[in-house]
Amino acid sequence: MSDDDAIVTRRHYRYIAEHTRGDDPFLSELKQAAEAEGIPKIWISPAQASLMQVVLKLHRAKQVIEVGTLAGYSAICMARALPPGGLVRTIELNPKHADFAEQWIAKSDVADKVKVLRGAGADVLKSIKTGSADACFLDADKENYPRYLDECLRILPVGGLVMADNAFAFGQLFDEVPSESGVAAVRRFNDYMAARKNVHAVMVGIGDGCWVGVKEA
Ligand SMILES: C[S@@+](CC[C@H](N)C(=O)[O-])C[C@H]1O[C@@H](n2cnc3c(N)ncnc32)[C@H](O)[C@@H]1O
Repeated sequence: MSDDDAIVTRRHYRYIAEHTRGDDPFLSELKQAAEAEGIPKIWISPAQASLMQVVLKLHRAKQVIEVGTLAGYSAICMARALPPGGLVRTIELNPKHADFAEQWIAKSDVADKVKVLRGAGADVLKSIKTGSADACFLDADKENYPRYLDECLRILPVGGLVMADNAFAFGQLFDEVPSESGVAAVRRFNDYMAARKNVHAVMVGIGDGCWVGVKEA
């Protein structure tokens, strides 16, 4: 089979979802409550959450930085993959999203493992100490992904884990006239990531495409 024959269809995505752990009642309730408050349904899929949990466990991650909290869904999922004493610091610009996430994190089983940091991703990342995290997940405004990556690479040690969402640009990666405004920024970031000499990374075809990589020397 050549590379061109390896087609991943919507049917494959459904099949993957059907064969992966789904949300527990708490996460389903969180999503319903977020929708009721008018928070957009742009959280990662349960299959992507499982991918990230498995990768975090394999990496034995303890300290995670996330850019883009929204309702707290991915932060709670990641925190569940950490050992006792682990922490997800998740950065959110929108106060409504940060308030909602804090409220639901406090009610969750990982209340002591997630801290919401309020502010713009680029500013907050600058205030985070070098060497104080071993994994990161980028999932906020796409235009700033290259800056977020650079800051995270400063913070992470060699061997640190880098993950970034929406590598497939909201399903519009190959559209000539995309309707989503962030598509061009995602394409630029994908090229930027692929060209980095000190990150060994691959786009995984789960959810909307998730970059998974390791910082090299
Ligand atoms: C796609 S959502 C995050 C979804 C979340 N990671 C999940 O899967 O549950 C993107 C979030 O990034 C936030 N955001 C946008 N621009 C930002 C910025 N410059 N700094 C920090 N957060 C930002 C948005 O308010 C939104 O809540």
